[in-house]
Amino acid sequence: MKYRALIAFLAISLLSTAAPAEEGMWQLDKFDAELFARMQELGLELSQEEIYSPGGEGIAYAIVNLGGGTGSFVSPYGLILTNHHVAFGALQRASSEENNYIEDGFYADRSEREIQAHGYEARVLISIEDVSDRVLKKAKGKKGVKRYEAIEDVIKEITAEAEEGRDVRVSVASFFGGMQYKMSTYFTCKDVRIVYAPPRSIGNYGGDIDNWMWPRHTGDFSFLRAYVALDGSSAEYSEDNVPYEPAVHLPMSLEGVGKDDFTMIIGFPGQTMRYRSSYSTDWSLNWRFPGRVKMFGDLLDIMNKAVEKDPGVRIKTARFDAMLNNSMKNYEGQLEGFRKAGLLEQKIAEEKEFTEWVNADKKRRKKYGNALPAIEKLYEEYSVHRDKQVIMRFAGFMNQMLGASGTIYRWTEEKAKKDMDREPAFMDRSIPRVKQRLEMIDMGYDEGVDRQFLRYFMLASLDLPEIQRVRAFNEMLTGYSGTDEEKVDALIDDLYTGTKLDDVDERMRMFDLTREELMKEGDTFIDFYAKVYPEFKEMEDRDEEFGGNISAVRPLLIGGMKEWKGGAFYPDANGTIRLTYGTVTGYSPRDAVNYSCITRLGGAIEKNTGEEPFDCPEKLIKLWEKKDFGKYEHGCFVDVPIAFLSTTDITGGNSGSPIINGKGECVGAAFDGNWESISADYMFNDKLNRCISVESRYILFVLDKFSGAYELLGELTIQ
Ligand code: ARG
Repeated sequence: MKYRALIAFLAISLLSTAAPAEEGMWQLDKFDAELFARMQELGLELSQEEIYSPGGEGIAYAIVNLGGGTGSFVSPYGLILTNHHVAFGALQRASSEENNYIEDGFYADRSEREIQAHGYEARVLISIEDVSDRVLKKAKGKKGVKRYEAIEDVIKEITAEAEEGRDVRVSVASFFGGMQYKMSTYFTCKDVRIVYAPPRSIGNYGGDIDNWMWPRHTGDFSFLRAYVALDGSSAEYSEDNVPYEPAVHLPMSLEGVGKDDFTMIIGFPGQTMRYRSSYSTDWSLNWRFPGRVKMFGDLLDIMNKAVEKDPGVRIKTARFDAMLNNSMKNYEGQLEGFRKAGLLEQKIAEEKEFTEWVNADKKRRKKYGNALPAIEKLYEEYSVHRDKQVIMRFAGFMNQMLGASGTIYRWTEEKAKKDMDREPAFMDRSIPRVKQRLEMIDMGYDEGVDRQFLRYFMLASLDLPEIQRVRAFNEMLTGYSGTDEEKVDALIDDLYTGTKLDDVDERMRMFDLTREELMKEGDTFIDFYAKVYPEFKEMEDRDEEFGGNISAVRPLLIGGMKEWKGGAFYPDANGTIRLTYGTVTGYSPRDAVNYSCITRLGGAIEKNTGEEPFDCPEKLIKLWEKKDFGKYEHGCFVDVPIAFLSTTDITGGNSGSPIINGKGECVGAAFDGNWESISADYMFNDKLNRCISVESRYILFVLDKFSGAYELLGELTIQ
């Protein structure tokens, strides 16, 4: 095997010319021949049908949407390979100080030992259908909230019709800023369990210091398993459920990758903004990113202080901690990338040229002439309340008692309506998940931290100019005296003393009440939410007004740009399934520095300080010292490969996606982008943007030599 890999490596590196870089997250249902030919030229051996065809058995059917992350089936019994950081929420919710799976990892050598991955679902694609005509017909001629609602309503209709009487889940997404709409239909496994996770010192080796960086030595992988009812239908967690049997699963490659190898990734990238205007870019560069960096830094300080006082808090806040650290560093990377590339200046220059092209022709002027001025105006209007909105949004998200009271309060309003008239988040089809989220709060709740978060947002509101302050906060504070901080502290004391929402049974009981019954409870947080609610509603109205209007003009800008530039055009990422391809290639981040494309176990040992996050497990060090690499050694060096770079174009949501070779075998799991690729969400740069994956041989090596996970290994198809 080693030998074959070496030959392949030599052959490819001799034949290949300049490193090809491959921008684009392509739609599977719109794959054009030219792209396919390009993939073949780079080393793809599969036919188009072997990748995807409607109703077929291509490898795309082995890809799993994990909601914010991706995975792939790697056995006939529903076994899913994904990232450690994608399964992290499940590990956190299942962990306690006695059973700390985050720290120690987890392995179930048989199915009875697997543990529930709370909050996880695994969705398998069934079909993709264009529904643009139907949606756009309803939206035609409408503006603002009316347009937003018309689109929302027709999407609800389409969804209800498609789901009616079928065991499927449908979601409709907009493409090209609202030019097209497509419906993805999925089969959902609602019962997902944790099978294997390496210890933190492998799965998150390098932690937040190495995150978004190369060279990387993180074994960022885990295994989950999807379950269904005995008759194969979708079912909530039950002991009677059986493993889901996917139509297709991917073999794991023992050959891994070498420099210049062809690779492709199929997954669910969340959001890119490559066709956004300079106004949107300006918004992010000069307001959104700097604001988030500051806020997330402050919130992390709050958590760090709480953990310093009481280390027991760490498990409870681990998910927030990872999320905030990851996003904060992402925003910092975007800021640096934007500034270095002069992205805003480039956008402005491009729009100037575009406008000249538009104005040079009467018909074009009529069609596209208003797009940019309209977008500018919308951003201007939308920005008036933005500081307040961000405080409210994050208060509702980070402060779990406010979040819970909001859910319960809103539900008492929504449940009184007919299903089709409700907010999509409160339609019958979503209620089981809403309840589950309420139940799960206990698995990651610390009252001290929750109080501190609320205090932070209240004080931040008091710092805003008068018209942007949260009126309800002000009103509540009038009953107290002292400095702002003293008043806020006293109010928060009262709120937490007078609520029962921190008790799961009480939360679930209140969830079932009517509005009238709920208000009789006299729960302080419910009363508090009732006071803030009108302002949440105003925020939603503003969002809908902006959303409706922007969905009418963005397609004009993107359509105009498409006509102006010509060539192949892929839509921005929007959570739908995409394919990206490229080759295993290093890069040069700056003058005289060249990064090679594969890291090795020896590199992890080199980084070892014995202290978190660079605390290599003793056993791993011993294996390396003894050169006990088994069949997992790389063909080109005497060591086990850990991670590799490729030119494939990915973003958040792709995490956990299988990275696949030309024969359709899984050569690893994609888990990150390099520092220089973070701003690729706005603009892809061939020379700098790379995807980072953990190699299949490292995954197999850790399972085999480090964890002795032989049952799991035996279940995989290894070739
Ligand atoms: N940067 C990775 C992503 O966004 C997440 C890595 C998680 N690791 C961490 N140290 N927080 O997909």
